[in-house]
Amino acid sequence: MRLFLDTANIDLIKQGVAWGVVSGVTTNPTLVAQEGISDYESVIKKICEIVPGEVSAEVTAEGKDNMFEQGLAISKWHPNVVVKVPCTVDGYEVAAHLAKEGVKVNMTLCFSPNQALLAALAGAYFVSPFVGRLDDISTDGIALIEDIVDILHIPEFNTQIISASIRHPMHVLQSAKAGADVATVPFKVLQQMMKHPLTDAGQTKFMEDWHKVSGK
Ligand code: E4P
Repeated sequence: MRLFLDTANIDLIKQGVAWGVVSGVTTNPTLVAQEGISDYESVIKKICEIVPGEVSAEVTAEGKDNMFEQGLAISKWHPNVVVKVPCTVDGYEVAAHLAKEGVKVNMTLCFSPNQALLAALAGAYFVSPFVGRLDDISTDGIALIEDIVDILHIPEFNTQIISASIRHPMHVLQSAKAGADVATVPFKVLQQMMKHPLTDAGQTKFMEDWHKVSGK
């Protein structure tokens, strides 16, 4: 399973890529607003220069014609841009239309297996089930990933599953075990994944012993 960062913060993306473990980025209007960004296009272009893989940018226009036009424009920002379209009634039509034009689409705000099936039938490149938001309302988010993996992992479908709305490292582990193609994680979760107290204690002891024997 690949890892994406779920942020629009340039410094955090640079760090994630420097660690060699992040191969893509997802953004959404809320994440962009959190960074106080008004020029979405410039930021997405900058992110595309930093990360080696796909960068999702979400349509914000209303009405299917406007969503389609905006999606088409966004797709031209950079070859690695993936256009994020919500799993709404208009969204499926927009996604299908964009996919027919050769645009890579990430269908977002997916909360049910049937929505994922429709995203795949519409020709989406990615579908993003939101694990944490389901857990928040006492529904099993990882079970949704398992169902979607079952449904989409047949040769007729090429849609990749991004496990999204990740809240903690166990969500990442469970997503990988369930067979998600990607997990998009907040920077904090990436940091939490790196840490283990036995690694820190072991490294401290190794260095103490090395200093003793080397005299340095
Ligand atoms: C996915 O692409 C979304 O940006 C994201 O994971 C939303 O998660 P949230 O529930 O933390 O807002």
